[in-house]
Amino acid sequence: MRKPVIAGNWKMNNTIAAATSLINELKPLVADAEAEVVICVPYTAIQKAAELTRGTNIAVGAENVAWADKGAFTGEISAEMLKEVGAEYVIIGHSERRQMFGETDETVNMRTVQALKYSLKPIVCVGETLEEREGGKTETVVKRQTEGAFKGISAAELDNVIIAYEPVWAIGTGKTATSEQANETIKYIRSVVAGLYGKATADKLRIQYGGSMNPSNAAALMAQPDIDGGLIGGASLKAADFSKVVKY
Ligand code: PGA
Repeated sequence: MRKPVIAGNWKMNNTIAAATSLINELKPLVADAEAEVVICVPYTAIQKAAELTRGTNIAVGAENVAWADKGAFTGEISAEMLKEVGAEYVIIGHSERRQMFGETDETVNMRTVQALKYSLKPIVCVGETLEEREGGKTETVVKRQTEGAFKGISAAELDNVIIAYEPVWAIGTGKTATSEQANETIKYIRSVVAGLYGKATADKLRIQYGGSMNPSNAAALMAQPDIDGGLIGGASLKAADFSKVVKY
């Protein structure tokens, strides 16, 4: 049985002050959740978020991690630094980073390897653009991204990994993939992982859906057999909405 995991992706939102009120509001609302709860927050809010959630069922994550230990990488944050301030998870290869900040399958792989080396749990994002979907390339793209992300990573390490399938055309647009569409692609991603690691490992791997997931569509998405959770952007910025998704 795969334990469902609902993760918020705050993106570039919330100062420390705003993070504090959001987390304080969220804590009681999700205290009895059955799903695992994660909030991925901007670097500056990680330490405060970790402090505020200590002893609760909310885990904290970052939104990126450097591929090197330390050194001349202006603007990057290392895995050791993230661990020091209390991050447990890290989003890697979000489509916004792929599209706007030059992230590639290769850098996604390097960051994933690095996260695992420091026992940070990666949430690796894959997903096709609208053009790719309309061109019938969805499977080719998610296969390339999945195989690219896990080069050199062992089956044992994969136990600490989550994949987030996020069709780019559904992110922040209000357009959700239908539950069946999302499940079909996630099932396909699982078969790609089975090709790399064998069926037993693939069957244990948690794969989330992301892209305009909210209180009104969460139950239908989560009812699909291959969807093990969600990566939630917009709806994670309001405690009431996020808690409803968590308790779909
Ligand atoms: P959204 O974002 O829920 O606002 O569509 C999801 C994501 O980008 O992770």
